[in-house]
Amino acid sequence: MKIYAAKDYNDLSRKAANIISAQILLKPNAVLGLATGSTPVGAYKQLIKWHEQGDLDFSRILSVNLDEYKGLSGEHDQSYRYFMNHNLFDHVNIHKENTNVPGGLSEDPEAECRRYDQVIKDLGGIDLQLLGIGGNGHIGFNEPCEVFEKGTHVVTLTEETRQSNARFFQSIDEVPTHALTMGIGSIMGAKKILLLASGAGKAQAVYDSCFGPVTPHVPASVLQLHSDVVVIADQDALALVKEKAGLFVESWEGMIYDN
Ligand code: F6R
Repeated sequence: MKIYAAKDYNDLSRKAANIISAQILLKPNAVLGLATGSTPVGAYKQLIKWHEQGDLDFSRILSVNLDEYKGLSGEHDQSYRYFMNHNLFDHVNIHKENTNVPGGLSEDPEAECRRYDQVIKDLGGIDLQLLGIGGNGHIGFNEPCEVFEKGTHVVTLTEETRQSNARFFQSIDEVPTHALTMGIGSIMGAKKILLLASGAGKAQAVYDSCFGPVTPHVPASVLQLHSDVVVIADQDALALVKEKAGLFVESWEGMIYDN
């Protein structure tokens, strides 16, 4: 695991976009695992800018998103399909038919989960998986629990996650109680993983995930077992790493950890 300290959110976003863009240049038909939420928005904006300047071609890119709320259609403005269209896909030359998000309205969610696993398999796995992290250490919607779930599955969202995502809805009552999420096995199957964390609310999760025990109680801690993980975090998200991890670094900017 490599950890990079970003100066601030803009720096984090540019660094993340650089890594994603390098992946696209190295493999123009790469399979990108994509995330929603506030954290990757800056990186997506930067990628759009480079595409508009003619520097980045998405025409052969394939994508699989991590998750979707159960019960929301792709037209709902809080669905993750809608988010991806508005924050990235509508602004670059990716072919929509090459983009995948779990179906939130499926009448048989279990069958939808099996279908989604097959989609990932048929694509040959994920080249680069982008992740945000929940304040409770969740990745995708893999919430803290007793086991690491391997494949795509339906989850009951924790109260903490629903509260945290309520900022996007009119009220907490509108936040769905369930979601479909890619499993830890699929995430860990990605060739390369890029985890982004911004803000003080992520400090505990970042410290526990990078330096604590590997446990499904902190789902992102499993990333310690992956051979190619890059974490980019801003200064606030690194607060506890600075305080407790015992890293002796010359500067809290750039690479601060490589094990
Ligand atoms: C979103 C996702 C979630 C978010 C996480 C952080 O697709 O999978 O794990 O990455 O909840 O969300 P933000 O970035 O809004 O803090």
